[in-house]
Amino acid sequence: MPLVTTTEMFKKAYAGGYAIGAFNVNNMEIVQGITEACQEQKAPVILQVSKGARAYANHTYLIKMVEAAVIECPDIPIALHLDHGSDFEICKSCIDGGFSSVMFDGSHLPYEENVKVAKQVAEYAHAHGVVVEAELGQLAGVEDDVKAEEHQYTDPAQVQDFVERTGVDSLAIAIGTSHGAYKFKPGQNPQLRFDILEDVSRRLPEFPIVLHGSSSVPQDFVAKVNQYGGAMPDAIGIPEEMLREAAKGAVCKINIDSDIRLAITAAIREHFTLHPADFDPRQYLKPARQAVKDMVAHKLVNVLGCNGKA
Ligand code: G3H
Ligand code: 13P
Ligand code: ZN
Repeated sequence: MPLVTTTEMFKKAYAGGYAIGAFNVNNMEIVQGITEACQEQKAPVILQVSKGARAYANHTYLIKMVEAAVIECPDIPIALHLDHGSDFEICKSCIDGGFSSVMFDGSHLPYEENVKVAKQVAEYAHAHGVVVEAELGQLAGVEDDVKAEEHQYTDPAQVQDFVERTGVDSLAIAIGTSHGAYKFKPGQNPQLRFDILEDVSRRLPEFPIVLHGSSSVPQDFVAKVNQYGGAMPDAIGIPEEMLREAAKGAVCKINIDSDIRLAITAAIREHFTLHPADFDPRQYLKPARQAVKDMVAHKLVNVLGCNGKA
């Protein structure tokens, strides 16, 4: 089937009490690892591309790799989504360039400015058959090399007004998740503001909610990275059971990037240590791709619950 929007995926996910995985893609092995797992597990999937991914791999290469995955995985719905579009122009360029979904991230802007641009993006996107995600509240952590120390939790009192005035199709909220591999301090009890999520979903019945910064930072990857020469002390993610809980409710899209990076880095570090004479990239990119595939398969079944839902 051709690229799809997330409309149908989210409707089914909301009703079925599960979430769709939104995985960041930056190269061929990542696209293959994710989509092979989804094809085997019969799971719908969102492949998302950041501004940094476009700068690294080039828009055309990314879109053609995703189109190849659509051909290779005929049994599953695949959406192609712009992650963290910072202004109207980048959203327009992805809408014009074949994406089926875009995020306008105006979370750092004053509220009225966020409303204004999100509405502009939604009008343009909808006229072209594309859906839009926007964000209210700000995540702590690293994003585009900018580090925010504090969470600015979403104010539930704003969400209804925002969605009504902008016409966006889904909303990312800040409830304590954060980007990157260091989401909590050592010794800190990981917590998410489920009270905010519940309040938001009461005010927006049946409206799809998105969680960014939702990697779990599997400790076996962290241990392997550190064992084979890396330095990622105290890397901590969101506990899987919390994400599972969120997926049962209004959360229909869960964003994962850091876990992909970790899977690849752990596999390559291990390979280089155990096979120091290897220098053919296929020798170490193959286990890296397999590590992505295994990690994604685990997530589909044990965290998102979207296996068998294609
Ligand atoms: O939310 C951020 C994603 O992990 C994308 O990261 O901008 O380094 O590609 P990036
Ligand atoms: P992680 O850094 O937790 O993987 O979050 C990724 C993300 O939110 C992409 O938009
Ligand atoms: Zn994000």
